[in-house]
Amino acid sequence: MPHASPVTPLEGFDRAWLARVPIVSLSAEPDASELHDVERAEADRNKPRRRRELVAGRTALRRALRAAGWSGDRPLLPGEQGRPELPQGFSGSITHKDGLVLAVAAAIVDGRTIGVDSEVLGERPRVGIASRILRPPELARWKAGGEAWPDLLEYFSLKEAIYKAAHPHLPRYIRFDEAEIAADGRITMHLLHDDGPLHLIGRRWWEGDRLISVASCRAAP
Ligand SMILES: CC(C)(COP(=O)(O)OP(=O)(O)OC[C@H]1O[C@@H](n2cnc3c(N)ncnc32)[C@H](O)[C@@H]1OP(=O)(O)O)[C@@H](O)C(=O)NCCC(=O)NCCS
Repeated sequence: MPHASPVTPLEGFDRAWLARVPIVSLSAEPDASELHDVERAEADRNKPRRRRELVAGRTALRRALRAAGWSGDRPLLPGEQGRPELPQGFSGSITHKDGLVLAVAAAIVDGRTIGVDSEVLGERPRVGIASRILRPPELARWKAGGEAWPDLLEYFSLKEAIYKAAHPHLPRYIRFDEAEIAADGRITMHLLHDDGPLHLIGRRWWEGDRLISVASCRAAP
């Protein structure tokens, strides 16, 4: 059912768009009609679960890019260190979680790139990850707030979105403790190497038990 899922303006991010595409169950055949032939061939090379993810992801990414003004037709394959290849002049990002793919895209203005992540609350809180993903002030604030799993998930998810947004500028593994999120949502980077500086903004919101995080990144002057 092409075009059945909404593509909406991404609130808080200039001229950016968000596309949502469900991942069909393993018993159903994914609709790859919107993919480039090369993307379809790439998807077909994968096992069924990953194939469905790839089809939904590329469908969503292409829809978001179209909404952002892209009129080309090149394939958008997984590229450097997993980052999706994107058309010249555009930024975009994909996340898949629990049967849904989200993709964001925007024309690049002032070098700004965009990243998205989605998580669901789930039944098993993984609070043990706190010391790995939080910097000391974040950890102190999280503990003072009662060590709630949704609060921790918000840090985790926004940091994954930060990673995706920052990766085109910093094509290396970025550790979770290289980003710090303040109580008011402001983001400060503490880069471990002689790279950057970067300026990041982020937003996260809940839709029921689904958390969506978006970050955008540009080289700081
Ligand atoms: C790469 C990573 C962010 C993916 O997140 P995830 O929760 O496992 O999976 P998601 O479904 O949200 O995202 C998967 C998509 O991320 C994208 N992606 C993968 N590597 C990427 C990279 N280096 N840069 C940008 N996007 C990337 C891809 O589009 C992928 O989907 P696709 O393979 O179908 O194209 C995660 O596995 C990871 O390595 N995190 C550690 C690094 C980190 O987050 N540091 C925090 C720094 S503050």
